[in-house]
Amino acid sequence: MNKRTGTSRNTMMATLWRNRGRRSRAIAFAVMLGSLAAAGDVIAVEPVGPQLTEKLRGLLVKEMTEVEAAMQETYSAIIQGKHDEVAQKGQAIHDSFILEQSLTEQDRQDLKAAVPVEFLQMDKRFHQLSASLAEAGRQQNTQEQVKVFNRMTESCVACHSRYVTDRFKGLQE
Ligand code: HEC
Repeated sequence: MNKRTGTSRNTMMATLWRNRGRRSRAIAFAVMLGSLAAAGDVIAVEPVGPQLTEKLRGLLVKEMTEVEAAMQETYSAIIQGKHDEVAQKGQAIHDSFILEQSLTEQDRQDLKAAVPVEFLQMDKRFHQLSASLAEAGRQQNTQEQVKVFNRMTESCVACHSRYVTDRFKGLQE
């Protein structure tokens, strides 16, 4: 039915990337705006959580909790040289935990309407990193695992600092 194979992206956010079309122009525009603003002004953004429907927020929180657990297990695996486990956790984060089946078409529309393009880009970047983590695990490359793990942590902090300031006060920019 709805099955996909291999490393297809199944996260709640990633499902949005499938129907891009004219969205990519919007993204290019957002990137341009982003670089114009790069001079240092912090653009105030609305926290994302409260804009979501109750169902979507619940799914996101669940995904986040599981990602956090997987990150902690990954840390433990990296520092013990358990490469297979690093590969497996990276892949699990990448393929993700939110079952796409639990998103209806309406949920998807709601999500698109609620979150800014930049948020989706950050999510996408995060999922690319998780693929790199899995790869570094398969290659048994500890240095690369450490590097990618750090980048992933930066990406949690970057997204939370921008979009979750209502809950993570200590991360306000
Ligand atoms: C693209 C944006 C984004 C990225 C990247 C991201 N998060 Fe989140 N995270 C969120 C949002 C949005 C919330 C708040 C949801 C809400 O308001 O209820 C959240 C909430 C959380 C929570 C709180 C969950 C709870 O119990 O309510 C944890 C834990 C968390 N994230 C862990 C992580 C970890 C670990 C990473 C990186 C490995 C990460 N997140 C990366 C957007 C992100």
